[in-house]
Amino acid sequence: MKRVDDAALRPTTLAEYVGQGALKEKLAVYLEAARQRREALDHVLLYGPPGLGKTTLAYIIAAELNVNIRVTSGPAIEKPGDLAAILTNALEDGDVLFIDEIHRLGRVAEEHLYPAMEDFKIDIVLGQGPAARTIRLDLPRFTLVGATTRPGLITGPLRSRFGIIEHLEYYRDEELAEGVERDARLLGVALDGGAALEIGRRARGTMRVAKRLLRRVRDFASVANETTIDLSRARRALDELGIDPGGLERRDRVILRTLVETFAGGPVGLDTLATALGEDRATLEEVHEPFLIQRGLLQRTARGRIATARAYEHLGLPAPSGVGLFDDAG
Ligand code: ADE
Repeated sequence: MKRVDDAALRPTTLAEYVGQGALKEKLAVYLEAARQRREALDHVLLYGPPGLGKTTLAYIIAAELNVNIRVTSGPAIEKPGDLAAILTNALEDGDVLFIDEIHRLGRVAEEHLYPAMEDFKIDIVLGQGPAARTIRLDLPRFTLVGATTRPGLITGPLRSRFGIIEHLEYYRDEELAEGVERDARLLGVALDGGAALEIGRRARGTMRVAKRLLRRVRDFASVANETTIDLSRARRALDELGIDPGGLERRDRVILRTLVETFAGGPVGLDTLATALGEDRATLEEVHEPFLIQRGLLQRTARGRIATARAYEHLGLPAPSGVGLFDDAG
């Protein structure tokens, strides 16, 4: 089997990028227009849940424009000097600067980014105290691609400086299957359509999860000396991984079971639930809950967390009467 790292699996053209149809159509137009006019593309803000391919898309934008890409992240840019260093040393006309987790950019650095985005100029302060003076440097006409999972934390002034603002959607099972089949081809793994779709079904709508599951299923197959992965092989491997047909992991099921069995289905406060699970509050709230809520298994209410009728069904338990009343999650 071939050894291929993640970067080599990354698609480099829009055509190879699976799914996100509406976004791809628009982006294709903007890219073509920028190429025709021989101008830098407008600044792009990509937002959406983690693992949907925002970084991959940034690399594709650069490759499609045939320019270089510089990659950094909000937390890595603490001081204005960090930003100035990147903007003045690393970029040429037309290049892409990718800032991941751009909502975590420091406030002062963010303010220095405004004139850079708008006028391609940056103010640098030389010296300190009364002797300090500011000089304004010209920058190349770059394209900023920012990515965030928390668009609500982007300030108005920053958001308004992006000409292109796009949301990435969760993938359909068939799209995830297509992505998985593509990786399998590149990895030299014989994977049939049924197996790819099964991985897609259990991947929580998330391309990164689908790709990870493919690698783990491949591990199970190769240790068992099986050269092709069919539906039953994929199912057995996924079951052994503790990923159920709805894509829930063991931990997700423990959360639902605790809610149902220890707290009679709720409502129970986040802190109480977290303590009962031996989990920290932020992990529960930010890592586990979004998926459970999205699948209509758990609800956040003013009085606390509750298990929906669908959660009982998923655990194979009868729902107590009245639970369905809360279950409007769809
Ligand atoms: N890698 C990350 N996102 C992808 C996508 N949408 N299609 C193919 N490969 C990807």
